[in-house]
Order: sequence, then structure tokens, then C-alpha cells
Amino acid sequence: MSAQIIDGKAISAQIKDELKAKTAALLEKGVKVTLAVVLVGEDPASQVYVRNKKRACEYIGYNSLSYELPEDTSEEELLKLIDELNGREDVDGILVQMPLPKHINEKKVIDAISPDKDVDGFHPMNVGALCIGEEGFVSCTPAGVIQLLKRGCDGKIDIAGKECVIVGRSNIVGKPMALLMLRENATVTVAHSKTKDLAEVCKRADILIAAVGKAGVITKDYVKEGAVVIDVGINRNADGKLCGDVAYDEVSEIAGAITPVPGGVGPMTIAMLMNNCYEAAVRKLK
Ligand code: GUN
Repeated sequence: MSAQIIDGKAISAQIKDELKAKTAALLEKGVKVTLAVVLVGEDPASQVYVRNKKRACEYIGYNSLSYELPEDTSEEELLKLIDELNGREDVDGILVQMPLPKHINEKKVIDAISPDKDVDGFHPMNVGALCIGEEGFVSCTPAGVIQLLKRGCDGKIDIAGKECVIVGRSNIVGKPMALLMLRENATVTVAHSKTKDLAEVCKRADILIAAVGKAGVITKDYVKEGAVVIDVGINRNADGKLCGDVAYDEVSEIAGAITPVPGGVGPMTIAMLMNNCYEAAVRKLK
């Protein structure tokens, strides 16, 4: 039997439409949600991401402020802009597109963004809040995975009590993903490049989340029959075709449910960024 497909494009569209309706209600109260997007340099992939974020703002009804700065912008100038945006009453969220040029310290930049406006959920205060179960902003990709699990397969995927294996331990995906799955009461294992017998560990999973960053490394030998497989990877194979960390064709033969690449986790990241912007505006009202 082949796996049920979890359609990230459809679920992302659903979330954006819900936000659009809630945003219209906020507008009636005179509140306009505003996201400031900062891009330094001319990295083509970053330009595409930033354009998509601005488009999503337009669709939902947010105001987006765009700061496109030259490659040679100094760290000091960027920090000054962030300071100004932190202080602006009309700005709810600040997003500085990564990666930044090499002469700028990314950590310094992340730390400079007010935690109340950190809609990426990268600030140590927000990471700490997630760790101890307090309210804060959650990194968008792992938050999107939770929504895929809750809304996919007609809401029939149970997380509580399930064995969840996450492959990858990055600060923006693997680690927050583990904390979120723990919050949902899964039994969580974080595997990584030094894990012994990775296939055997992955095969224990009822829910397998691949965030490795290598095309097709998760083959059917890593997957238990009927497991839910979430593919966070966005890679290009030898032919230049977009593909995930999971060998989709063979794994979809044995998995119970699976996310495709493209059209799985990818579209969820922007939807969750938009959700964080809405939350930032609503929290400010409180
Ligand atoms: N670059 C690639 N993905 C992201 C993201 O989610 N947020 C930011 N700020 N930069 C990125």
C-alpha cells in the first residue's frame, strides 16, 4: 500500500486563509499588522525568500516594510537599523534574512532583535521559553511540522505517546523540533551524524522527521511500516531537481503517511512566519 500524502501546500493555504480572516477583524479595530523584512546583499535564493514573504504579507493583509541593504553594509549600520525597528510602535515583527555577509556576526544580529518582535523565533529568550514551556515565538519550520501532523491525514495522526525520531540537531530545526514534539507528549530521540546504527534507530519511529540536508539519505531501510515520515530537507539532486532527505519513491511504498518535496514542509515555513506576525501584533495589544 502506498502512503497518504500530507499536502503542505494545501495546509499552508488553509492557515493563510484563517489568518486573512482574523487580520480583517483586527483591521476593523484599527490594527494593522506590520512585518519589517531586512535583506543584506544580493543572494538570489534570499531574494526569492524575501519576495515570497512580502507576497504572503500582501495576501493576508499585513503591511510589509522592506529594507534592501547593500552587501557592504557594516554590522554597526545593521544593528542601528534593528535598534530603530525595535523602538518603532508600528512594527510588530522583524525578520533579518539569513545568511548574512561574512563580515556580519549573525549571532550579534539575532541577539539584537527584541524578543517581542523576533518572529523567526531565533532569539535565545524565545528558544529558552520553548525549552521551559513558556509563551514565546517558535522557529517557523518546526512549528510548521507540528501543524502538518495536526492537520494532515484529516487530523488522525496521534502524537502523544508515539516514538518520534528526529534526524538532525540544528538550532533552527532539530533542537526546537525535539522540544515541540516533547510538548506534544511524544517520546523523542534526536539522532545525528554520530549516531550509531542510524537505520536501526530510525526504524523505531512512529513519526520520523528528517532534517539532515542530504538528498535521499533516508531510504526504506530506515522506515518502519506504517510510519509517518516528515521530510524537512530541501536539496538538489545530481540532475538539479529539488528533492528532500527522504528517498520518496521507495519510502512512500511502506510509510503510512509522507510529505512530498516540494509541497510538504517548505510552504509551511512562511505560513508559520505569518502566524508569528499575527501573534506579535495581538500580544502587543494585551
Ligand atoms: N534563511 C533561510 N531560512 C530562513 C528563515 O526561516 N529565517 C531567516 N531569517 N532567514 C532564513
